[in-house]
Amino acid sequence: MPSAISYRIPEATFLARLNFATSARVLHTMTDRIADAICGLLHPDERMTMTTILDSQGGDLRALPRGAYLDLSTCVNRYGPPPSVWEALRSVRPAQLAAHPYGMDELFVETYAKFMAAEPKHLLPGRGITEFIRILADLLPTHGTAVITPDYTDTIRLFPVHLPPAPGAVDSAAARLERVDAAMATYPYVMLSNPNNPLGVYVPGHDLAEICRSHPGSVLIVDEAYIEFLIDHAGLSMVNCGLENVVVLRSPNKLFGIAGTRTGALWTRNADLAGAVAARKINWCLSYLDVVAATTALADVAWADRTRAALLEDAGDLERLLAANFPDIVSGVPVHYRFLPSADPVAAHRYFLERGVAVRALDGSKPGRVAGVRVTTPTTAELAEIKERFASRLEVG
Ligand SMILES: Cc1ncc(COP(=O)(O)O)c(C=O)c1O
Repeated sequence: MPSAISYRIPEATFLARLNFATSARVLHTMTDRIADAICGLLHPDERMTMTTILDSQGGDLRALPRGAYLDLSTCVNRYGPPPSVWEALRSVRPAQLAAHPYGMDELFVETYAKFMAAEPKHLLPGRGITEFIRILADLLPTHGTAVITPDYTDTIRLFPVHLPPAPGAVDSAAARLERVDAAMATYPYVMLSNPNNPLGVYVPGHDLAEICRSHPGSVLIVDEAYIEFLIDHAGLSMVNCGLENVVVLRSPNKLFGIAGTRTGALWTRNADLAGAVAARKINWCLSYLDVVAATTALADVAWADRTRAALLEDAGDLERLLAANFPDIVSGVPVHYRFLPSADPVAAHRYFLERGVAVRALDGSKPGRVAGVRVTTPTTAELAEIKERFASRLEVG
């Protein structure tokens, strides 16, 4: 754990530092070792400036000294992947990788459909929700598709029409529902993440379904990347709504801690849209290894139940711990992460770095964003450690 970090570089030079950090991150994609060496050559003050990168994606800690921080910046379940996935991957034989992965897309769809209590015929397989966001961005009319913001990085980047909450207002399920209603009256396509990233707010699926029924000429695309963290996810997901003007995006990546593999599914009963998406997909879109990992994880329901329950209980504890210093915390949400609104997300990010924790910092001046930091619930053991770190910092401070 690093000792307390001071930010000595004036804020005015922050953008220049950001550019440098971006270049360093590009190098990282070539090889971690080269970029680490470059970071190592920097004066310590230079390294300090690379610690807060607003709007870098969750889990991307390449601008921080490796292994120095507990990573609570991504919403992937920190208990994952389940041990059963390791066992399954260890038992893969070379011959199974020699051929193209015939039948693996179908196996994934069948397994995932069972997990989410949907009919396999309504699911298309894909390389995470990410692939579908990309395909939909190519397919749907740019100015005819509105996103209820704040929302996920990729979504707000690829869909430029944003419908934010009223200025200065903290968003709520009721306010988001109202915006969906208004948006569906105007736009042929409307998108939202539900539960929302980054706020964690969940709009009940039956309320959304009612609005969809009253706007049959508009299609609602619901990104349910985090629905599986809700105990009754099968009952709460919109894959049960039976409506033709609904598209649901799902992936097992977050709950099962397998975001390093790439699987996901698009659910819809809209045959035209399903056909248009399917036409843009590549052959054998899922690799053999992706499907081994995902189908093994999805079958490990006991592991999912156990870790989900632990995360939800600890999220309450984390919320109480954070509320002492961030009273505006978005509280009482049904997921394992919490959003802390802050007019100065760099300072809020620094607050956590000083305690050895990396969180996600968001720049509220950017379209589709809300200012603050998002913190994911760690494992129970990590939470105990964090409580100690926070307590000792508070005594010193
Ligand atoms: C709301 C939301 N949608 C989609 C994604 C991407 O998901 P996948 O790993 O399935 O591509 C993320 C990942 O962070 C997310 O937060």
